[in-house]
Amino acid sequence: PMAPNGCPVSAQAAAFDPFDSPYQLDPAEALRWSREQEPVFYSPRLGYWVVSRYADIKTIFRDNLTFSPSIALEKITPASRKAQAVLERYDYGMNRTLVNEDEPAHMARRRELLEAFTPEALEAHAPMVRRLVREKLDAIVERGRADLVAEMFWEVPLTVALHFLGVPEEDMEQLRRFSVAHTLNTWGRPSPEQQVEVAEGVGKFWQYSGQVLKKMQEQPHGHGWMYDMIEKNRQKPDVVTDNYLHSMMMAIIVAAHETTALATANAFRQLLSRPAVWAELCANPELIPAAAEECLRHSGSVVAWRRIATREVEVGGVTIPEGGKILMVTASANHDPAHFENPDELDIYRDNAVDHLTFGYGSHQCMGKNLGRMEMRIFLEEFTRRLPHLELEEQEFTFLPNTSFRGPEALWVRWDPAQNPERRDP
Ligand code: HEM
Repeated sequence: PMAPNGCPVSAQAAAFDPFDSPYQLDPAEALRWSREQEPVFYSPRLGYWVVSRYADIKTIFRDNLTFSPSIALEKITPASRKAQAVLERYDYGMNRTLVNEDEPAHMARRRELLEAFTPEALEAHAPMVRRLVREKLDAIVERGRADLVAEMFWEVPLTVALHFLGVPEEDMEQLRRFSVAHTLNTWGRPSPEQQVEVAEGVGKFWQYSGQVLKKMQEQPHGHGWMYDMIEKNRQKPDVVTDNYLHSMMMAIIVAAHETTALATANAFRQLLSRPAVWAELCANPELIPAAAEECLRHSGSVVAWRRIATREVEVGGVTIPEGGKILMVTASANHDPAHFENPDELDIYRDNAVDHLTFGYGSHQCMGKNLGRMEMRIFLEEFTRRLPHLELEEQEFTFLPNTSFRGPEALWVRWDPAQNPERRDP
């Protein structure tokens, strides 16, 4: 086969499929061959140019005029006619938010919405995060065994996200199902039957977001980032537009919780599978922020992000034509030995872990990164203190099949409640 630039496609590039199990289980490892031999390649199965090295991905992130983020939330698997009809029935109109908005609209909007992310504003949420984590821990601490994903890793970040946004905490289970549908719809490859079901979920999520937004617009004095947006929409409707409000309402509920939930599950999996590292954190909790950062590098919850070339451009020696769609595998960049020494090792003392690309880079870099980090830190602080004898159970991990959001669907751990420090020393 030939790539759209007229060059032949190598056998490995032709065989690459992100929905196959190697990428689903370990995207960085699945692209080792590419990092080593062919760092930019066209994937005929995906219809994307795949980029796997750190330096190339950073170059792309840096130039969001040549490499537009407009396709960041596009369906990676086009909707079937039936799914399309379902979405139309729900009047589905997800469009630009921040993450997929071009300049100059993006920066003008982002600048208006920064206040909620000052260190002081974020610190004000810390007691709530700690209270939520403690309540969830209280519920299981005497039990001896738990699936931490089911017990708290998704629900706490979702509650924090809704609180941060000012969105009423209603029907969390339904919101979680909506979020899964949104992930499959945007980054998955649902089968034709699944497509219709997923479209139903996405359509309902869109309607729900519109209703919540309307309710919030009717009570203008609430607190939270969505209220900031509603206020800016009143003051500067050309900068913070109506369609933006509705699209953002849906996208941010997912962006603000699923990313953090999966990152926390990945971090606990990585740390608990290295008992010596876990013991070190229990003995020296001041190492927790660095350990969380290293987990974000080693096993991030966002593993790939997209751009589209607005003109013909060369990346890593390969010519990508205008309109070429690009999948930057950030998980691969985070394991690039040209930037990280012994990249496959989880090293909580690594001095450049923070260079990872799990939060993206440049003008679109994740606005919520410090909220996500704070949640991970508080989870780790509470667990290392109250359950230092926590152990990972032998288990097979499963992942929601998609290109970009990664974390185990369950994380089984066990401990002996008789050894709980608070029992021995109440
Ligand atoms: C953007 C990852 C948590 C809000 C992004 C991007 C990534 C990302 C990869 C795209 C960056 C780019 O294009 O350069 C993550 C991860 C998280 C996390 C891994 C948790 C561990 C959060 C939270 C919030 C949030 C908690 C909200 C409170 C946003 C927003 C953007 C964004 C608003 C768009 C920024 C822009 O385009 O200007 N995030 N995120 N994220 N994230 Fe996060």
